[in-house]
Amino acid sequence: MTDSPAPAPDRHRDTAPGSADHSPDHRTATRDSYDAIAEEYTAWIANELAAKPYDRAVLGAFSELVLATGSAETLELGCGPGRITAFLAALGLEASGLDLSPAMIAQAKQHHPGIDFTVGTMTCLPRDSDSLAGVVAWYSIIHVPDEDLDAVFAEVARVLRPGGHFQLAFQLPSEPTHPAEPTDPTEADGLAAGHQVEHFTELAGIDVDLSFHRRTLGSVASRLRAHGFAPVARVEREPDQHGQYPESTPQGYLLMRRLLAPK
Ligand SMILES: C[S@@+](CC[C@H](N)C(=O)[O-])C[C@H]1O[C@@H](n2cnc3c(N)ncnc32)[C@H](O)[C@@H]1O
Repeated sequence: MTDSPAPAPDRHRDTAPGSADHSPDHRTATRDSYDAIAEEYTAWIANELAAKPYDRAVLGAFSELVLATGSAETLELGCGPGRITAFLAALGLEASGLDLSPAMIAQAKQHHPGIDFTVGTMTCLPRDSDSLAGVVAWYSIIHVPDEDLDAVFAEVARVLRPGGHFQLAFQLPSEPTHPAEPTDPTEADGLAAGHQVEHFTELAGIDVDLSFHRRTLGSVASRLRAHGFAPVARVEREPDQHGQYPESTPQGYLLMRRLLAPK
């Protein structure tokens, strides 16, 4: 995905790549930030998917794989204005969305009135155990620090049926974060791979307090394995530097499947 409405990201950087997120309440800061930019973000991102054929292909493959299981209930975590949820619904999934930001959920409801959107946190999902065939986190774990990531992944493992699919998309580190880290992300499994954190205090002229976490495909897959998932597909795409939505980092797409065996 395009860098969030963020002209000249380096201008706003105040946390060095690889340093920790020191926000005392990162979730409140994330919610308040997205509440503040909800209207601008919704207008800015509205046509992004039309400009990103690989993104559409990834979501199309995910939808086909979910539908092939005979079920269609799918939840998008961090759905923002609901454009991805709506795209999945148009592909035949029974898609709903959840987001931390009430203003984002208001935008989602306004633009996609036929779809169920809920305010909530992905660390505590309002769904029964084994109730979903698919879960999507499309550029939303980018705001989740390491200390909360296992809680999110445990919740996804709880609500997904065995054999259910979990599709993630996130920005990858712009360069190796450790000299010893393999350049092939598939080799990074099992390593305590570092990640980069970029902090923004302003986006599109609006004050925010937002951290963006960039992780390798291997490090996220490795964490998910510990929650009973197996990798299905890992795709790395070069940054789109020439289109309407320019990107400054490689983009990562990870599809994991919840194992059939008891966790
Ligand atoms: C970059 S936006 C992506 C929105 C949407 N997935 C899209 O691609 O248009 C990230 C979204 O994740 C949400 N978010 C961040 N942390 C969250 C959490 N812990 N629980 C639920 N939503 C969260 C934010 O409020 C924001 O709307």
